[in-house]
Amino acid sequence: MKIESIRLKNFKAFKDTLMSDIPRLCVIVGANGVGKSTFFEVFGFLKDALADNVSKALNKRGGFREVKSRDSDGAIEIEIQFREAASKPLVTYFLAIEENKKGTPIIKRETLTLKYGSGCNSQPWYFLDFARGNGFAVTNELEHVEHKTALQREAQTLARPDILAIKGLAQFQKFPVMMKLGSLIEQWHISDFHSNRARQVQEEGYAEHLSSEGENLSLVTRFLYERHPTIFNEILERLKQRVPGINSAAAKITEEGRVLLKFQEGNFKDPFLARYVSDGTLKMFAYLVLLYDPSPHPLLCVEEPENQLYIKLLWELAEEFRICANRGGQVFISTHSPDFLNALELDEVFWLIKKQGYTTIKRARDDKQIAAFMAEGDQMGYLWKQGFFEGVALQ
Ligand SMILES: Nc1ncnc2c1ncn2[C@@H]1O[C@H](COP(=O)(O)OP(=O)(O)OP(=O)(O)O)[C@@H](O)[C@H]1O
Ligand SMILES: [Mg+2]
Repeated sequence: MKIESIRLKNFKAFKDTLMSDIPRLCVIVGANGVGKSTFFEVFGFLKDALADNVSKALNKRGGFREVKSRDSDGAIEIEIQFREAASKPLVTYFLAIEENKKGTPIIKRETLTLKYGSGCNSQPWYFLDFARGNGFAVTNELEHVEHKTALQREAQTLARPDILAIKGLAQFQKFPVMMKLGSLIEQWHISDFHSNRARQVQEEGYAEHLSSEGENLSLVTRFLYERHPTIFNEILERLKQRVPGINSAAAKITEEGRVLLKFQEGNFKDPFLARYVSDGTLKMFAYLVLLYDPSPHPLLCVEEPENQLYIKLLWELAEEFRICANRGGQVFISTHSPDFLNALELDEVFWLIKKQGYTTIKRARDDKQIAAFMAEGDQMGYLWKQGFFEGVALQ
């Protein structure tokens, strides 16, 4: 599963923007307030809208007027294109939200189309098309449909005009593509790790996934240690390889049921307990726990992973993110760090700038000068520092 493009209209600072041909590892650079977190928030918004409805998702963010780009006309629009695999049709999910005359948010239009082939003759198949609570959905199993004239459509009315049709129609349970879209949105995860949160002692128990800020790290550690020992050992091996100075890493369980991590650093005879290791080591361990999750998130957004990690570790971390993305998921990362940028490939980097209050997306590989320097073996962090990323303030 891979998101190919994201188009946003009137979503906060994104008045009219398109990010296309998105790679599996996608790193977004930009100054404070340029919209990096807002870009990730689109997925959180969809998740809330799917769990409840569009009104609740908007209210959580201050309401329709707060989310809609300031001084803009028209609906809030989100369009996501994805493919289950390179050989599968291109799926486009489109959502437009407006306010009715009473000031209540409603879904102006929601469509899901599938496009087979890539030529201009390949017209999209409308699988679902709703407006203000009414519309149609295809009811036949797609594997048995040879041509779009054979599609059977059924008119439907949703319980409310602010409910997503992809949520409201139970029949979609039998369509794999819908299930994939649903799980992409539901299992989306944002990581904004803080070492001080991870050091907090947790109540006993298990947690299967690392939380956004990492405060349940000890619980996930125990879960992996007891239920997925092979993965757990792989994480410790990786940690040894990635963090210089760590000679060995081991774990043991205490009487109270906590997993103690012991890291042997340098020449010290006595191992350190995880509680006392450096922020950098702890952070690297936490990212490995996140990236080697036994049921991985199909879509991972990571906020500013560079904090507390020194330069060598940023290279190692970039490599781990890349490995994770290439295992079949997709990883979006926001960063301010030229050192992290130095560890990235030309195709992986986008940057955001603001023009007249609204955000524009640029891509490193589309900039001839940056592409030429990179072809000669340069690194993007240095190019950024030298001012080659147009419109990005130097930090
Ligand atoms: N409705 C809106 N219309 C236009 N701009 C908006 C709207 N709501 C928020 N913004 C702008 O979006 C920006 C917030 O962006 P965001 O928090 O995504 O930035 P960021 O790149 O993550 O910054 P940082 O590096 O500090 O984390 C602010 O500048 C804010 O003014
Ligand atoms: Mg941010």
